[in-house]
Amino acid sequence: MTFVSRSLLAASALVAFGAPAFAQTDVKIGYALAPDSHYGVAAAKLEEVVTAETGDDFAFKHFPSSGLGGEREVIEGLQLGTIEATIVSSGTLANFVPDTGVFDIPFLFRDLDHARAVLDGPIGEEILVKFDDVGMHGLAWGEQGFRHMTNNRNAVHTPEDVQGLKIRTMENPVHLAAFNDMGAAPTPMAWPEVISSLQQGVIDGQENPLSVIVSVKLDEVQKYLTLSGHVYSPAMLLVSKPFWDGLDDDQKAAFEKGATEAAAAMRGYVDDVETSGVETLKERGMEVNELSADEKAAFQASISSAYEGYYETYGKDKVDAIVNFE
Ligand code: PAF
Repeated sequence: MTFVSRSLLAASALVAFGAPAFAQTDVKIGYALAPDSHYGVAAAKLEEVVTAETGDDFAFKHFPSSGLGGEREVIEGLQLGTIEATIVSSGTLANFVPDTGVFDIPFLFRDLDHARAVLDGPIGEEILVKFDDVGMHGLAWGEQGFRHMTNNRNAVHTPEDVQGLKIRTMENPVHLAAFNDMGAAPTPMAWPEVISSLQQGVIDGQENPLSVIVSVKLDEVQKYLTLSGHVYSPAMLLVSKPFWDGLDDDQKAAFEKGATEAAAAMRGYVDDVETSGVETLKERGMEVNELSADEKAAFQASISSAYEGYYETYGKDKVDAIVNFE
């Protein structure tokens, strides 16, 4: 049998068994949280929209709950082209695009609307496009919400209450500087190690938004929740640059549309958990307190020298432009 007739035979066998007569492109999408988290909801929406727009061009393969490793490893996978897509926190992003760290400055944003307006506006866009220079393509800003502290040692009302507290932070120099300034004993750690470290008492606490605290059931390993809202936690939908460069214009438009809708779904999840999350966690047995305006001001005052460092790194003009953004 000639090569041509063998190929024809193979093609007709594919058609006969209903298999697609063209190769689908795999989209491995990795994220740190479960399918029923804000990340899972966003990843599902991305797949839904891209599939509706492009038919069978792409086969999405989801790797939730750090199935492809910690956020830093997944980002490196994107750069190498071994992983196509991810939804990540800003935890390690500043290690790849330093300017991203400006959004990790504590007490920068007034509320969710303020943060969303900045990220969706020119300042957010200016940073998003920088990912093209480091082997990735930023599709959209998503979010996790405002981060709060949890721990097993004591309720937190004032900076005195966190003195020496072994609190896990993301591998993020901006957060680390703030917790050092407060007098805590911050321990930067990749997310996949956090739950076991809390269980073993290696660390006393951690900080994350309600979206994470509720979906990961941190109440099972933490007693006190302090609604400190000390920092906003952006997220980002990213694809690998080699993957992005291989798409045609229609496919790119489909991913852009999918990412916009995914980010909206993520924000919708955050809105819901912001209203119901505290009750849920109280019912599950957590002891919850919310910082009063004065208590919050005391925390803000306690990180004044970290703020000097932020001004030096990012420029006071840039920080003020974000604070004053309407
Ligand atoms: O704390 C973190 O590292 C992040 O907020 C998490 C939980 C991995 C979600 O991106």
